[in-house]
Amino acid sequence: MSGIQNWVAIVTGASSGIGRADARRFAEEGARVVAADVDADGGSGTVEAIRDAGGEATFVETAVDRYGGLDFAFNNAGIEGHNDSLADQADDNWERVIDINLKGVFLGLRAEIPAMLDDGGGVIVNTSSIAGVVGFQGVSPYVASKHGVIGLTKAAALEYGREGVRVNAIWPGVIETPMVDRAAAANPEMIEAVSEATPMGRVGDPEEIGDAALWLCSDDASFVTGETLVIDGGYVSQ
Ligand SMILES: NC(=O)c1ccc[n+]([C@@H]2O[C@H](COP(=O)([O-])OP(=O)(O)OC[C@H]3O[C@@H](n4cnc5c(N)ncnc54)[C@H](O)[C@@H]3O)[C@@H](O)[C@H]2O)c1
Repeated sequence: MSGIQNWVAIVTGASSGIGRADARRFAEEGARVVAADVDADGGSGTVEAIRDAGGEATFVETAVDRYGGLDFAFNNAGIEGHNDSLADQADDNWERVIDINLKGVFLGLRAEIPAMLDDGGGVIVNTSSIAGVVGFQGVSPYVASKHGVIGLTKAAALEYGREGVRVNAIWPGVIETPMVDRAAAANPEMIEAVSEATPMGRVGDPEEIGDAALWLCSDDASFVTGETLVIDGGYVSQ
């Protein structure tokens, strides 16, 4: 993919699932990857996996200190929160989900954009979800946070388009990661039920999301900004 090699990328939530797959894909394409996560053990595992594959990554706070600039950011860290009907949702669950999934993206954008402007521009991809376009029962804070990510993405794209920063979002459908494994542990029929409800007849693979984020960062998507890319096997087209 063009325009990735030797550039500096930060990936949040890189210890697991989609973030881990994306960090690996960036490194395979020759980017220098800063893998950020609250789970330091998992983050180190990602860095080792990237190094084993011949890439370069460092589990550090910022790309700028280490590599002197920032070209790409994948704001992907997120949690599902507790499953409860809306009237039973506790304040602390609401606050934690909104803080990590929505405020986390805001804080990421606020830190990343100035670093990119200093460097002549850059590309940001935010992870929303199909729960950012349709509702799901039992996870109202998650649904609200993922809808919010779309608004932030569009606002940032408008504000910084002329200065060379592109900002897009992805809407993954159900992707087989530890987050989905946790849901499936509570509801063993879930994966089969979702597969049946998906036009492509299966759930997604984290690498399929990593490839889409990589494409949005590449020169192949040079006129794409403020966009939300659905990667869900056709689920929300029904
Ligand atoms: N798996 C899916 O089906 C699916 C679908 C749509 C959207 N998403 C979104 O994709 C993103 C990644 O999900 P996943 O399925 O890979 O989940 P996951 O649980 O496998 O990975 C999430 C990672 O984020 C990290 N994290 C959590 N809070 C953090 C914080 N405050 N700071 C830094 N890192 C933090 C975790 O430690 C973990 O490594 C999330 O934003 C999720 O909402 C997932």
